Amino acid sequence: MMSAVPARSESHNDLAVLLHRYGTVVDTVVASGISVPRFTGEFWTSRQRQASSLHEISYRACFKPQLAAFFIEHFTQPGDTVYDPFSGRGTTVIEAGLLGRNVIANDVNPLSALLSRPRFVVPELDEVRERLSRIPMRADRRADIDVSMFYHRRTESEIVALKAYLDRRRRYRNEDRIDRWIRMVATNRLSGHSPGFFSVYTLPPNQAVTQSRQRLINKRLRQKPEYRDTRKLMLRKTHQLIRSLTLEQSVRLHMSGKHARFLTNDARHTGRIPDNAVALTVTSPPFLNMVDYASDNWLRCWFNGIDAEKAGRSITTTSSLAEWEVVMGSVFQELFRISRPGGWVAFEVGEVRKGNLRLDEVVVPLGVKAGFACRAIVINQQSFTKTSNIWGVRNNRGGTNTNRIVVFEKS
Ligand SMILES: C[S@@+](CC[C@H](N)C(=O)[O-])C[C@H]1O[C@@H](n2cnc3c(N)ncnc32)[C@H](O)[C@@H]1O
Repeated sequence: MMSAVPARSESHNDLAVLLHRYGTVVDTVVASGISVPRFTGEFWTSRQRQASSLHEISYRACFKPQLAAFFIEHFTQPGDTVYDPFSGRGTTVIEAGLLGRNVIANDVNPLSALLSRPRFVVPELDEVRERLSRIPMRADRRADIDVSMFYHRRTESEIVALKAYLDRRRRYRNEDRIDRWIRMVATNRLSGHSPGFFSVYTLPPNQAVTQSRQRLINKRLRQKPEYRDTRKLMLRKTHQLIRSLTLEQSVRLHMSGKHARFLTNDARHTGRIPDNAVALTVTSPPFLNMVDYASDNWLRCWFNGIDAEKAGRSITTTSSLAEWEVVMGSVFQELFRISRPGGWVAFEVGEVRKGNLRLDEVVVPLGVKAGFACRAIVINQQSFTKTSNIWGVRNNRGGTNTNRIVVFEKS
């Protein structure tokens, strides 16, 4: 029998009680004639359970699963619909699926759906092993672009064979859940900074460098791509992803996945989502061109037959605050349309320009103008010790991870 999943739904008074339990009010933001309390504290992270291993797909500027879990558990019931208009690797929707909620994911970057959807129908390790063993991996295949600075010739040949197999399955419309899983894992393994990836040592997997930059890295580190057994690495990653998953969670994900929708629209124009359909939105928009999604993703796009330039053009990147406000203002209007009465939006804006620009304060009037009531700003602070290993040098640095979340209600 399935154990009970958390099922609570807060009024805004309950929200204040909840926030006071874990944090304190630091100040009050006044915008559009309303006062909004700003809370700071450690609302999630160390107090929360471990995140599921299923989230371990890297993506630029992704947030922690515990952030999404905090809002999903407190603002929704099982069966409610949870939405993310800027879904990225799918942190919100995967967490919502694990908690037995219905989900809608949207992201203008086609890689987003490709990385999220397969994790709603998790295969057995043996199914993946069996499928991989049937893909003919000839040793003499060359890519249509020069990838020799990333891969040993034999690795390149395996990647090209895999790409051709997956393309064929998709073209003839017989790509199934296991093919989609393999596509996701292979996309994740294409390049990275350890022997667990297909490539020679390079930047982490969510930041592919250009071919010429990789040549420089190879020269500097006096390295040459060595052979990597792509099947073995994909199986290892599959095991890592599913290692913490319980049967109950798999069943919940599966049920959630049956009705899940993965859209590739601009977040301002999601006409396929009905009015008043969404109980909770948990999201994090692109921040003032801090991240170049198109160039970071060129290798992943090549593998999946996606035009990186075209995908990049649809992604909102602007360094102008005024332009950003216009786009986000329209996003809020759309969120107001699709949120149900009594529904919530948790809008994460992180730290930008080294904390000198308080985007949370910018966001408050945008949501209010669209019709929402702004109930709180939540600043989650977590201390960490970060071990980074860049170019072989280990650094232990202390610091603080700060998330700023503006919480709105459609009252
Ligand atoms: C900060 S990331 C979100 C990361 C996500 N929270 C996660 O945990 O993976 C912002 C996302 O917004 C997407 N995006 C940018 N402009 C968009 C737009 N106008 N409409 C929809 N998605 C957009 C980008 O492709 C990117 O995936």
